[in-house]
Amino acid sequence: MSVTVRVPAKVNVQLAVGPARPDGFHDLANVFLAVGLYDEVTVTEADELRVTCSGPDAAQVPLDRTNLAARAALALAGRYGRDARVHLHIAKDIPVAGGMAGGSADGAGALLACDALWGTGASRDELLDICAELGSDVPFSLVGGAALGTGRGEKLRELEVGGAFHWVFAVADGGLSTPAVYGEFDRLNEGVAVPEPAASEELLAALAKGDAHALAAALSNDLQPAALSLRPSLADTLAAGRAAGALAALVSGSGPTTAFLTPDATTATEIAETLRTSGTCRTTRVAASPAPGATVVKGKP
Ligand code: C5P
Repeated sequence: MSVTVRVPAKVNVQLAVGPARPDGFHDLANVFLAVGLYDEVTVTEADELRVTCSGPDAAQVPLDRTNLAARAALALAGRYGRDARVHLHIAKDIPVAGGMAGGSADGAGALLACDALWGTGASRDELLDICAELGSDVPFSLVGGAALGTGRGEKLRELEVGGAFHWVFAVADGGLSTPAVYGEFDRLNEGVAVPEPAASEELLAALAKGDAHALAAALSNDLQPAALSLRPSLADTLAAGRAAGALAALVSGSGPTTAFLTPDATTATEIAETLRTSGTCRTTRVAASPAPGATVVKGKP
């Protein structure tokens, strides 16, 4: 018996970061948009907990209990008094350590897959609680679509999206550590009165209308200066995408993946090819948004 769940990547169309909190996290106004690049997590009954991974970047994925998929299975099993005797296989297509929430996607995917396999009867809110314990971006991976995340990003309000947006993602060599990027944000803002984060009304209106030009004008990422400080070469990638005709360019989440909003799917393919051969990134991917959240695609319901 096995269950397969498909889970999308995300881009942050707005990432407003507040001052560091006493617990070390930062309050956010985090506008998540799910994009159509997916990992698939398959869970199968086994003698003991085991994680495997396939895909071009599989060698970079930890297979021990630090993997969010393993942690999700253990958290759900713990709550329902079961043993997490499962084999979790991750078919990885989301860039690794890239600011596209690939690890969070695997956590949400494993949670939904184990829940279906075990028939726990957990409510959506219980699953979202477990997601929030696993990481700030994990609840959004379960929900998909578009949502405003507040608190540390885990409190979600779903948002309306009025049309498709077409993106190019430039994948950099190597990853960037999310805590290191937040740490650099704190260092760059030492002595600065960082304002409380707030969602941009213009941005929410652009999403609701499905207006790519208006969205391009409103995109923002407060972590971008920190990511550029740690990885200055990303400025060349952003410039190459803008020169190739992107409506706007920004670092995706904590990076180092960069995101380019384009007017349509054909232009996205052209910009992806120009960027891919620009020498400023390892490879490129094209994807449309919004995309659905974690979904059972094979096995029990
Ligand atoms: O929640 P998650 O495990 O994904 O967070 C990883 C790290 O990113 C945290 O340990 C923290 O350093 C940083 N972070 C933050 N504020 C947030 C979310 C993450 O400082 N809202």
